[in-house]
Amino acid sequence: MPKKGRVFSGARPTGRQHLGNYLGAIKNYVAMQADYDCVYCIVDLHALTTLEEREDLRQNTVDMALDWLAAGIRPEETILFVQSHVPEVTELHTILSMFTPLGKLTDLPTFKEKVAQQPHNVNYGLVGYPVLMSADITLYKADAVPVGVDQASHIEFTREVVRTFNHRTGRPVLVEPQMKNTEYPKVLGTDGVNKMGKSLNNHIEISGTPEETQKRVMTMVTDPQRQRRTDPGRPEVCNVFTLHKTFTPGDEVAAIDTACRQAGIGCVDCKKKLAANINAHFADFRERRAALASDPNHIRDVLADGAGRARDIARATMAEVRDAVGLP
Ligand code: TRP
Repeated sequence: MPKKGRVFSGARPTGRQHLGNYLGAIKNYVAMQADYDCVYCIVDLHALTTLEEREDLRQNTVDMALDWLAAGIRPEETILFVQSHVPEVTELHTILSMFTPLGKLTDLPTFKEKVAQQPHNVNYGLVGYPVLMSADITLYKADAVPVGVDQASHIEFTREVVRTFNHRTGRPVLVEPQMKNTEYPKVLGTDGVNKMGKSLNNHIEISGTPEETQKRVMTMVTDPQRQRRTDPGRPEVCNVFTLHKTFTPGDEVAAIDTACRQAGIGCVDCKKKLAANINAHFADFRERRAALASDPNHIRDVLADGAGRARDIARATMAEVRDAVGLP
């Protein structure tokens, strides 16, 4: 089957993935392989812009790659690689920066957020973050980029820089990418209020043991109005119920809904059911992951092979780009 075009997406190396990563990104990355030539990148250079303490980038990269592979990324067809292994991206970043008005970068809400988050570390790389991202995407001439809405302004920026580059050089070398909104209802963390994330420690890892998973699930905040076991609950405001809708068979979900409203089931039992269903859902995944992790050379080889294939595309694009800007 001919594919519909090339997809590129990137994610920072955040280590072991959680339910939010899985439902919001990974599942979609896996599914897109059927219709597109996919290039998935672990953006370690981007991660350097916000590193305040030394995190273990290497271990986080391996852990994330293992999760992606075990979840169904197929490295025989999909290019899976680490951003810094293809240094052409930094050259393209520099060239694209010449086509970027500085004010456009400092006006971006994402930049202002980062300044507010880390006022003591407003580094140059932070300003150039969207330029590096547009270099990622255009180096591989991606037609589409699956990302969440929070990245919309960066994709729009990429489209603009492509138009500027192609217009000013008079050479339509770069491809204007479409944003593919991977809309998935925001996955909330165990606190029931904030988006699931490592930094808030409200996450549930997909590669955890059944015990670890259950322990995490048991800390989940439920309907705050339901204080006693005998109080009726409101599934529509309960994040445990929201996750049941994803991990529990439909008829059982309906039964939980009714039982919760009538105080027929307590939160503890409801959470135990959820933990059991999450564990069942990821049982095969965890087995595959353990097998992949047992051979550290394997993941290294997969990433090296991905970098090699990515680099072939990158070199070809850079030859055209250098020529277009007139580098001797
Ligand atoms: N900025 C993206 C994020 O924080 C990560 C990213 C870097 C990316 N380069 C990319 C996403 C290219 C899509 C395409 O989530």
